[in-house]
Amino acid sequence: MSIALRGLTKVRQIGVLRLGLAVAASVRNRLLHAIYRFDPWHMTGTYYARPYKAHAVALIDSLKPETVVEIGVGLGDIIGRVTCKRGVGIDLDAHVLKAAAWLLPGNIHLKTADFSQAQDLVAALSAEGLAKIDALVLINWIHMIDFQQITQSIDAIRKVMPVRHVIIDAIKPGIAGYRHHHSAADIGTLGDIVRSVEADEVRTLHLVRVSVA
Ligand SMILES: C[S@@+](CC[C@H](N)C(=O)[O-])C[C@H]1O[C@@H](n2cnc3c(N)ncnc32)[C@H](O)[C@@H]1O
Repeated sequence: MSIALRGLTKVRQIGVLRLGLAVAASVRNRLLHAIYRFDPWHMTGTYYARPYKAHAVALIDSLKPETVVEIGVGLGDIIGRVTCKRGVGIDLDAHVLKAAAWLLPGNIHLKTADFSQAQDLVAALSAEGLAKIDALVLINWIHMIDFQQITQSIDAIRKVMPVRHVIIDAIKPGIAGYRHHHSAADIGTLGDIVRSVEADEVRTLHLVRVSVA
């Protein structure tokens, strides 16, 4: 697809104003990338370019959470816009977290850990001394993880602190290029799906009220 056609398609998706903001955010992220060398996805996958992020912020804010943990936080486009007392952003890429530290407010702490390494993940969260997690956010990378591993890591967290809600995306059936398409039935094993939002062409966001153990 030519650059002009790509631009027109994007304008149709997000509008002119958001496209301008997306370009500005992309320039900022390119500068950060030149310094920190994180995954190039973050240069263009900005808040304004990706409508799913605003849907996620609205879903999380609807819970009026005190404590929010986002795993796979990237540059913090989602957690940085949520209203909460305390936030913890976790990512396995230490480079992107160094850049995110410039962008996020002081109530958001950042830690390096891999969601799939449950022990390390729990150690990182325990070090933050959270009494509970009101919203555990897993968006736009969780499709790379087998659902059994998702359950295992969430259960490991729940052994040390209560998790009230999970906000998770699932790739729609039939969309090619993604490792896993977690079904609503899979996600329903975590608790009650209380809201689902068609967040963009490829993903549905689910808000899950976690069952009390
Ligand atoms: C596509 S970005 C999305 C960032 C953010 N969730 C958003 O939507 O703006 C995915 C992020 O997840 C991180 N990630 C991928 N696998 C992970 C894992 N197993 N544990 C922790 N972070 C992970 C990547 O390093 C990357 O920063």
